[in-house]
Amino acid sequence: GQELHDSIGQQLTGIEFMTEVLEQKLNSKSLTEASYAAKITSLVSQTTGQARDLAKGLDPLDLDASNLLPALDALAATTEHLFGSSCRFKCDKPVPINDTSLAINLFRIAQEAITNAIRHGKAKNILIELVSNTYESILTVKSDGLDFPDVQDRNKGMGLKIMDYRAGIIDGSLNIRKGADGGTIVACVFPNRNANHNGG
Ligand SMILES: Nc1ncnc2c1ncn2[C@@H]1O[C@H](COP(=O)(O)OP(=O)(O)O)[C@@H](O)[C@H]1O
Ligand SMILES: [Mg+2]
Repeated sequence: GQELHDSIGQQLTGIEFMTEVLEQKLNSKSLTEASYAAKITSLVSQTTGQARDLAKGLDPLDLDASNLLPALDALAATTEHLFGSSCRFKCDKPVPINDTSLAINLFRIAQEAITNAIRHGKAKNILIELVSNTYESILTVKSDGLDFPDVQDRNKGMGLKIMDYRAGIIDGSLNIRKGADGGTIVACVFPNRNANHNGG
């Protein structure tokens, strides 16, 4: 989102500036084409605004290492608000999250798990949980509703593959299975990183 905002935003601002200059030049020659240039300027300006909104939508939370927990809390609240299912985030003890990539990948894994639970599982209750011991931490998203299907069905979409890929980026592993009482459990185990050993 940020990248999109920066690169496209820069380009559009440049184009907007150039058409403004063109408009002034045409105006100074009393050319009626000036009003065309003015229209282009205003259209580009609208597009700049839309690109900014889009970039925000793709990355609404400005996630970094310091705010994963409130972001997950907000994700749960938004899920309840949008879909009417119960969605809670639980994290009883502090979990060492100290880099942006870790925060973003965990957030996206939780987000996809929730989307799947609602869309495919028709879940009414979702629990996001973050726990850790000395060496590793686990993000789990437990949902009720329909059972997570057999292996063949998993290859239908990109979501599960991307979740798996994200787990790999943070040196973790992802396990998705049917819950003991049905529904789905998505669990991502990842090693803790600290100041002395930051995993490279
Ligand atoms: N929580 C879930 N409950 C039931 N089925 C699920 C769940 N998550 C995933 N699935 C099944 O696995 C398939 C692949 O999921 P995914 O890779 O996220 O792709 P998509 O969501 O685009 O269909 C889904 O189409 C669905 O059949
Ligand atoms: Mg999906």
